[in-house]
Amino acid sequence: MKGNRSWVPGAKELDWIEDLAAPLSDALAAIESAAAPERIPIVDRDSGRVLSALAAGRRRIVEVGTAYGYSTLWLALGQPADGTIVTIDPDRSRTDLARGWWRQAGIADERIRVVTAKALEAFERKEPALEGPFDLAFIDALKPEYPAYLEALVPRLAPGALVLADNVLWSGRVVDPKVDDENTTALRAFDAAVLSDPRFHATILPVGDGLLLAGFRG
Ligand SMILES: C[S@@+](CC[C@H](N)C(=O)[O-])C[C@H]1O[C@@H](n2cnc3c(N)ncnc32)[C@H](O)[C@@H]1O
Repeated sequence: MKGNRSWVPGAKELDWIEDLAAPLSDALAAIESAAAPERIPIVDRDSGRVLSALAAGRRRIVEVGTAYGYSTLWLALGQPADGTIVTIDPDRSRTDLARGWWRQAGIADERIRVVTAKALEAFERKEPALEGPFDLAFIDALKPEYPAYLEALVPRLAPGALVLADNVLWSGRVVDPKVDDENTTALRAFDAAVLSDPRFHATILPVGDGLLLAGFRG
């Protein structure tokens, strides 16, 4: 076991890993190019590669927060060819564009279902598309709502399902006690709660903006 912090991976190691990775598909590159000028917050490419690896063998996925469908596409590319994703976002102008990039990547329309709604309202009204069981859930929408998304998801998870959440290090702000804005405080509390929640085996991967990874004990 590594017992000290004399070496931790940095930018050089991340670049080396990226150089070894499979080339980025045209559709993923197109989303990156479209999101940047519009300041649409999408997961880091490193996190996307993790999502894809963790989606292997996971046939039913639910995502909270679609935007341009970048994380959705990483998940779809990692899933089995007959896997499906239900992804929730109230902003149809974004998800309509996402559909075009998913098609460009060769993902059949039937594989990805968009629920155009605020997630908590869709869960509350028992939107049929959100009936479980899901094998993987990815949370990436409003930060103060992360705990409520998790509670809505738990009854919809299969035993052994993975729950992932992005931005849980929030560019380092969650570990800075001087920062106490609403999003940071919410994420800090969410991290602490999930990592001590007996329903999960959970940790935080220091990849991208921090990726929480929780295995549901079921
Ligand atoms: C960080 S972006 C998602 C990025 C996407 N996961 C990716 O990495 O490609 C957050 C998205 O959450 C959506 N959103 C805002 N309020 C929401 C809500 N109440 N429920 C679900 N999604 C919401 C926003 O419209 C936005 O597109």
